[in-house]
Amino acid sequence: MKQRPIGVFDSGIGGLTVAQAIINVLPNERIIYFGDTAHLPYGDKSTAAIQSYAVKICDLLIRQHCKVILIACNSASAAAYELVKEYVGSKAKVLNVIDPIVQHIGQTYPAKTIGLIGTKQTVNSNVYRKKVDELDLDIYLKSVATPLLAAMIEEGFFNDSISESVINAYLSDPELQQVEALILGCTHYPLIKKQIEKYYQGKVDVLDASQIVAAHVKLFLEEQGLLAEKQQGDHKFYVSDFTRSFEESTRIFFKRQVHLEHYPLWE
Ligand code: DGL
Repeated sequence: MKQRPIGVFDSGIGGLTVAQAIINVLPNERIIYFGDTAHLPYGDKSTAAIQSYAVKICDLLIRQHCKVILIACNSASAAAYELVKEYVGSKAKVLNVIDPIVQHIGQTYPAKTIGLIGTKQTVNSNVYRKKVDELDLDIYLKSVATPLLAAMIEEGFFNDSISESVINAYLSDPELQQVEALILGCTHYPLIKKQIEKYYQGKVDVLDASQIVAAHVKLFLEEQGLLAEKQQGDHKFYVSDFTRSFEESTRIFFKRQVHLEHYPLWE
């Protein structure tokens, strides 16, 4: 069991930021990555549609004998985590990217006001708010959907004046004022973390979910006795729709370009 790979999936290649963070802290682990580029973006899709995509992707990851399936997408974590957990049953452990952040918030910011930005699906599902309220720690969550950001990053607009204007427009929303920390509730956003930090000039903690999630995955594998003991073969990267531009963009999310294999789950 320990030597089996970790399955990681996202609506596209944004989840590579999480895969990258996992590889940094767990160099022995082998990753099987699936980006559902045929259905990108998930952020604007219905809950039912995201659930049906997630189940199919899990079938593939189970066939690849993954010991753990990490939903490396906030929109899919919000829409499909409970269903996927039920569906996968005892075949693999299922993790999402929301619980580790909520746990971190509970430990670090009791009785504080926290901001959240993410896709429409993530914000409108209210999953973060429900989970934060369940902590019963008097934490007040303020959230704003920022649907332009993922598309903007994917088009290569980050660390430039265009992204700065869009970020400033979203972060100046009255709802996001007076927050102690801001959750980057989308796996694309680590790429604009520096610009968001610049906007706040050190007055607000900007929470990079990819690092928090990677630390959580490490702890989980340790607790479950599932850590790979020696380095396993090469990572694999699948997409449901292949374009050269997706492959080129892997460099921005994964810090190096990787070879994407076309795995048409929907034909
Ligand atoms: N990576 C997705 C997330 O974390 C955002 C992109 C999308 O809308 O598909 O929510």
